[in-house]
Amino acid sequence: MPVIAVVNRKGGSGKSTIATHIAAYCTHQNIGVMLGDVDRQQSTRSWLKLREQRHPQAKQILGWAVNQSSALRAPTGVSHVVLDTPGGLYGLDLARIVMFADAIIMPICNSVFDRDSAAQCWDELKILPRISTGRCKLAVVGMRVDHRTLDSAALTQWATSRGLPYLGALRDAPTYVQCIEQGVTLFDLPKETVAQDLAQWQPIVDWLSPVLFPPPPVASQPIQPPRQISLGNETIKSARVGSLQPVQQSLVAGERIAQKQSMLPVTNEKRGGFLESLGIPGFLRRK
Ligand SMILES: Nc1ncnc2c1ncn2[C@@H]1O[C@H](COP(=O)(O)OP(=O)(O)OP(=O)(O)O)[C@@H](O)[C@H]1O
Ligand SMILES: [Mg+2]
Repeated sequence: MPVIAVVNRKGGSGKSTIATHIAAYCTHQNIGVMLGDVDRQQSTRSWLKLREQRHPQAKQILGWAVNQSSALRAPTGVSHVVLDTPGGLYGLDLARIVMFADAIIMPICNSVFDRDSAAQCWDELKILPRISTGRCKLAVVGMRVDHRTLDSAALTQWATSRGLPYLGALRDAPTYVQCIEQGVTLFDLPKETVAQDLAQWQPIVDWLSPVLFPPPPVASQPIQPPRQISLGNETIKSARVGSLQPVQQSLVAGERIAQKQSMLPVTNEKRGGFLESLGIPGFLRRK
């Protein structure tokens, strides 16, 4: 199941705003979506409640209960998950989010503090195997930034110097604050009233498109029996390609670093108990 996570350890950078908007965009594309709130503040849960109460006619988004780690099947109709994450996420908690995610959006405001904090977060993320091998992709969005200003140029430079896609900036607009307070998003408003802001979302939804609309799975090839090679009186069975996989895995740089890191003494902050206590649904665990 495609999972999109919104991550940045800097508080107030716009994670919940982006997560709610992506979830609402999904519903408007007729994608059954669940908005997972792994933030202790449970901001998006309150937003979902507001949405349900004040706009029962709006396309609804499913939330998840705090403890449903035993839910082994996605609720009927849910095909995608958007994860809102808390500020200050690092160590094993951060790695766990990446284990579930196929795409990560990192919203960054433009200040030296925000850029430094995002740089530290990226340094931690880029060595995780799912990121270093591209199985989970990551892009940056400028938050509360006018795309015509030096702020936007600084963020573009920040991202490109790290080889990260920069999907443009969302401007500082009171509509965002009003939307969140009313349980809606810009995608739920009449298009003509928010056309300028919706245009800024286009590169974001375009970048997400392969995750939102994945190609149908190709039928798997039947497993061939091992080939036999005759050498005079001896018969040698060729090894299955799959038998090399553990070795190949260990050659992935991120995996090696991750293994080395796992041998380091684990500090209390790195134990990752936080996400565990919030209970990620069982159906999201990768086999
Ligand atoms: N483009 C924007 N223009 C104006 N206000 C915005 C914009 N994006 C977000 N905000 C406002 O900024 C505040 C912080 O945003 P948000 O709650 O999404 O951040 P967060 O990263 O989820 O914070 P936390 O780390 O506390 O969970 C909110 O009041 C939100 O309405
Ligand atoms: Mg939040």
